[in-house]
Order: sequence, then structure tokens, then C-alpha cells
Amino acid sequence: MISIAISSQKGGVGKTTLSINLAHSFARAGVKTLLVDADPQGSVGLSLTRQSRLLTGFYDYLADPGIPMERLIVPTRLETFSLVASGQASDYEASGGTMGAHLARVRAFLRSAATSGFELCLIDTAAGLFGVTGDVITSSDAILIPQQAEPLGIRSVPKLLEGLNRLRVMNPRLSVLGVCLTMVQNDLAESREAAVALRQLLPAEMVLQTQIPRDGLFVRASARGLPIGVLEDGAGAQVVFDSLRMEIEAKLEPNGGQLTARG
Ligand SMILES: Nc1ncnc2c1ncn2[C@@H]1O[C@H](COP(=O)(O)OP(=O)(O)O)[C@@H](O)[C@H]1O
Ligand SMILES: [Mg+2]
Repeated sequence: MISIAISSQKGGVGKTTLSINLAHSFARAGVKTLLVDADPQGSVGLSLTRQSRLLTGFYDYLADPGIPMERLIVPTRLETFSLVASGQASDYEASGGTMGAHLARVRAFLRSAATSGFELCLIDTAAGLFGVTGDVITSSDAILIPQQAEPLGIRSVPKLLEGLNRLRVMNPRLSVLGVCLTMVQNDLAESREAAVALRQLLPAEMVLQTQIPRDGLFVRASARGLPIGVLEDGAGAQVVFDSLRMEIEAKLEPNGGQLTARG
């Protein structure tokens, strides 16, 4: 199994939207995919089902690793697509927690997911690169960093690089898939310029080619708790996530990651 943490220092940059839609793209391509909500605010779960607060989830497992994986896995209509809700985080964990404190349990969770037959585990995290999120990243094979294409986003780049270096020291086999520009407004000069500036600031291999456009459909899809590809008029947006999936697959390939290319 390959595990990918979807993380960023800032909130509201499109992590959850990207996680849901990328997971859906992998699952549609036949990869047995598990989407884990590791954000105590539980937005994957929230958009999934109104009862998500009652579901036993990731934080319950961190508190009690005796909970069997089968109790955490929520199936979807797509056979290859399953979810784990966030569950109940303690106030302490919800405020971030101490980095390192949950490392062993996060690793046990991922091993258990692999044993359950998943080929890919995407983990949607809370904002920030510390605490439980830090433990998720240092336990994962790879990290993907959504970044909003806006002038203010550019300022956080030095801090992002600093954070990534720190995480790489803790997990030397962490593969940095790179920054994915989100909410790009092609009809707005400032947004286009921010995207260009970001590409100039970062090494080329650190910015994915695929950019997620700003599209009101995403808001509609999340209100209905669905991946965008499931909406009647979502096919166009689905293509963007399929292209992101293929880029990620190509980047994972050297590490033995052969997801949809199997057989
Ligand atoms: N590409 C997009 N176009 C338009 N709205 C988006 C897009 N991506 C995310 N959003 C909206 O922006 C808000 C924040 O996105 P979300 O994925 O929850 O970010 P995060 O998980 O980083 O906090 C949500 O209301 C979401 O529907
Ligand atoms: Mg989120």
C-alpha cells in the first residue's frame, strides 16, 4: 500500500476537496482506495454523511488501537472506494497534540489498512505540519501540498520549505509529490500571476503541472457530499483530477508504486 498525506500549513486551501476528488479518481481507475479523515473537524466525514460525528473513526483508533479496522471502514457505492471518518478527537488532539505522541499508532493504523487489502491510502489532514498531522506525514510514503493560487499564498513558501525539510529529516523516505495549485482563477490576472510566481519560487519538480481551477461546482459537490465527478455536469472537473492522478502515479513509479499500471 502507498500512503499519501494531503497537508498544508494553511486551512481553506482545498485539502479536503482535493482529497475527496483525487481519491475518487484513483478508485474509479480501479485502485482499492481508502480515504482517511485525519482532521478533527472532520470535513470529509461531514460532507459524507450527516451522522459522521457518530462514526467510529481515526481518532478513536488513536485512543484505542484495539478497535478492529473493519469497524472503522465505511464503504461507498463504488466498490474500490472506502472511507474512515475522523471520529472523536480529544480537545488536546483537536488543538494539534504533541508531535511524536501518536507516531506508533498512526503507523499501526496504516499497517492495518494495508493488511485489509487497500492499495492506496489518502489521508486528509488538519492544517499545519505539527502534532498529529506531523505524525501522519512522518508515517506516510508521500506528501501532496495543496496551495491556493493567490498573492498571499506565495509568502508562506519559505516556511513551507522549512517545514518540509524538518519532516524529511524525521522521515528520510518521504517522497514530496509537490505543491498542487488550487482555486486557480484563469480569468483573474492576480491569480494567474500568483501561479506563475509560485512556479518561479520553487524547484520545477516541486510544483505539479495540473492546476485545480476555481469552480462553483466544487462548492455544490461538497454541499451534497459527493465527489465532483458524480455530478451531472462534473465530467469536466473530473478530467482535472484524472490528470493529477496520472502525474502522481508517474512520480510514485520509481518507488515501486504501480497503481493503475498493474498487470
Ligand atoms: N477548486 C475550487 N473551486 C471552488 N471552491 C473550492 C475549490 N476547492 C475548494 N473550494 C471550497 O473552498 C472551501 C475550502 O476548501 P477545503 O477543501 O475544505 O479546504 P481545506 O480542507 O484546506 O480547509 C470549501 O468551501 C470548498 O468547497
Ligand atoms: Mg479540510
